Amino acid sequence: MLLTKLSWPCLFQGSLFFAISCNLIFLLLNHHLAIRADIPSTLDGPFAPVTVPYDFSLRGNAVDIPDSDPRVRRRVGEFEPEQISLSLSATYDSLWISWITGEFQIGDNIKPLDPESVSSIVRYGTSRNSLSHEATGYSLVYNQLYPFEGLQNYTSGIIHHVRLTGSSISLESILYLSTVVVINPVLIVCIGLKPSTLYDYQCGDPSIPAMSDIYSFSTMPVSGPRSYPNRIAIVGDLGLTYNTTTTISHLISNKPDLVLLVGDVSYANLYLTNGTGSDCYACSFPETPIHETYQPRWDYWGRFMQNLVSKIPIMVVEGNHEIEEQAEKQTFAAYSSRFAFPSEESGSSSSFYYSFNAGGIHFIMLGAYISYNKSADQYKWLESDLASVDRSVTPWLIAAWHPPWYSSYKAHYREAECMRVEMEELLYSYGVDIVFNGHLSVVIGSSPKGTIRYRNRLAKVHAYERSNRVYNYTLDPCGPVYITVGDGGNREKMAIEHADEPGNCPEPSTTPDPYMGDLCATNFTFGPANVSSLLTLLVKNETWALWSWHRNQDSHGKVGDQIYIVRQPDKCPVHYTPPKRSFASY
Ligand SMILES: *[C@@H]1O[C@H](CO)[C@@H](O)[C@H](O)[C@H]1NC(C)=O
Ligand SMILES: *[C@@H]1O[C@H](CO)[C@@H](O)[C@H](O)[C@H]1NC(C)=O
Ligand SMILES: *[C@@H]1O[C@H](CO)[C@@H](O)[C@H](O)[C@H]1NC(C)=O
Ligand SMILES: *[C@@H]1O[C@H](CO)[C@@H](O)[C@H](O)[C@H]1NC(C)=O
Ligand SMILES: *[C@@H]1O[C@H](CO)[C@@H](O)[C@H](O)[C@H]1NC(C)=O
Ligand SMILES: *[C@@H]1O[C@H](CO)[C@@H](O)[C@H](O)[C@H]1NC(C)=O
Ligand SMILES: *[C@@H]1O[C@H](CO)[C@@H](O)[C@H](O)[C@H]1NC(C)=O
Ligand SMILES: *[C@@H]1O[C@H](CO)[C@@H](O)[C@H](O)[C@H]1NC(C)=O
Repeated sequence: MLLTKLSWPCLFQGSLFFAISCNLIFLLLNHHLAIRADIPSTLDGPFAPVTVPYDFSLRGNAVDIPDSDPRVRRRVGEFEPEQISLSLSATYDSLWISWITGEFQIGDNIKPLDPESVSSIVRYGTSRNSLSHEATGYSLVYNQLYPFEGLQNYTSGIIHHVRLTGSSISLESILYLSTVVVINPVLIVCIGLKPSTLYDYQCGDPSIPAMSDIYSFSTMPVSGPRSYPNRIAIVGDLGLTYNTTTTISHLISNKPDLVLLVGDVSYANLYLTNGTGSDCYACSFPETPIHETYQPRWDYWGRFMQNLVSKIPIMVVEGNHEIEEQAEKQTFAAYSSRFAFPSEESGSSSSFYYSFNAGGIHFIMLGAYISYNKSADQYKWLESDLASVDRSVTPWLIAAWHPPWYSSYKAHYREAECMRVEMEELLYSYGVDIVFNGHLSVVIGSSPKGTIRYRNRLAKVHAYERSNRVYNYTLDPCGPVYITVGDGGNREKMAIEHADEPGNCPEPSTTPDPYMGDLCATNFTFGPANVSSLLTLLVKNETWALWSWHRNQDSHGKVGDQIYIVRQPDKCPVHYTPPKRSFASY
């Protein structure tokens, strides 16, 4: 077990984004699994921290897949769809399909393609012989421009996003039109996609003609306390290295129903615009006038991932590697353009934060790199989103964002403290059960006397950290469990130093923390592990979920960490006043 007692402090400031590596988590919700007596539950906690030895033989250099690799080469004709991906809408009855047509350009004389020149059409249906429905979406291109001598500009292929809704008639308009309809639940179910149903689809522009092959996806189950997706994979800090490919193979072999990517996607910002990359951008290219990126890495990533995400929806939230500043201080262009998000459907006005349901789980994705203070739009949206969660429909409330609030590594240590101070109380008051973060490869901790602590000095490739239930640096049976999974396989170095090691506690004067700035406890730990990938299984029912961590180096079926996360709704009541009954949440 990798657990923690958090009663620490010490503020961390000037991290260079150097932690990370390989993580993948799965949430599996499966009512059929019997509870196993040999697996602990959070009810047995709080636990003393455990630090796991690091296996130095696994310390390899994570090497990026080169552009010559067949898995990242373009394999389609001029306007045929590629980089096909799925993402969920806010509820099971709707889903996004995205793809790219036309080749990107990079260099001096780039001319953006006309997004209107290729239409955005999806044909779909519940049987391969009848792609009888059709949905139309929108298209765009984005540019990554550097107004500096010697730097190359980029313009993307045409990016298409189409939302399948089954019908353009909204439930609200039906309710408005006729109260008779309301008493016919069959009709209501027929309005959008059906739950837990396999659909076939094909995307592209039939007039060229340039349609894709036929792919399939399954919709999420209906939201309800006994209804969960079978397995949810969570990965962080993925990148596109040979280790990433191991993580993704591992993930595919575990057959998830949904993938969450908690930030740091392609690592295109470890490259100059001429395609030269480095494991340590800041060390290698100190002279560049701006932090350059090599946007074709995004296209390589999209091509590599298609095999997975053309079948399984992926939900992405931004990390620091997506900032990608360019001309006129524009940021996040690739992130915001390439993925579809259920922002509008979840009442958000931004691609940086949104929410969605997956069966009886309500997921909230938060933005750590835009304003989150109490007067910011994000905070107001979060308040109203939380207030609308009916825990009798979605008992599990899970939040995710990129930089961890609680972690024991020196790198990024308490970097997200300002966000924690603004938002923690609100999340706590609504009884968030689990928080997923990336950004770091970490293992949790506190180290009571006698705990053996291992240190991995030069490890590359990840670690893993899971906390006891915690709130405001205090163990709290109603606080969330924090799980950090910042090591999907990217090429940056592993975080190896811990803030509680002698000399590692940041200078109090460098900390903006109003509460704990002058403290640096020596009693929390962490446990760099052998790591690589993480699987979480959230199981059973509205109060019991099984969390499992699986590592790349382990054989299938072996787990690195496993615990039942148990909700206690009787002990930890949540703020919720049911509004007038609405069918929309079902
Ligand atoms: C790490 O790997 C080594 C060798 O494979 C193994 O002996 C050790 O138990 C592993 N540690 C954990 C926590 O699995
Ligand atoms: C990561 O990949 C390298 C080769 O690029 C390999 O040596 C190393 O064992 C891999 N690490 C893991 C944890 O799979
Ligand atoms: C890239 O775009 C910027 C902004 O439009 C422009 O100033 C610059 O000259 C362009 N660079 C090249 C190499 O075309
Ligand atoms: C890219 O630019 C860097 C810095 O100027 C240089 O060292 C490197 O050789 C260039 N790479 C290519 C492929 O031109
Ligand atoms: C909150 O953030 C907004 C937008 O960034 C900023 O304008 C405002 O001053 C901030 N308010 C506080 C109290 O920090
Ligand atoms: C952690 O340190 C604090 C102060 O140094 C002490 O009060 C507390 O008991 C310690 N906790 C553990 C678990 O050792
Ligand atoms: C968190 O703990 C600090 C230090 O004990 C305290 O000053 C602060 O008020 C607490 N915050 C909340 C929201 O309870
Ligand atoms: C959920 O599963 C646990 C473990 O089997 C069981 O103890 C509990 O009673 C179940 N709760 C409900 C509401 O079914």
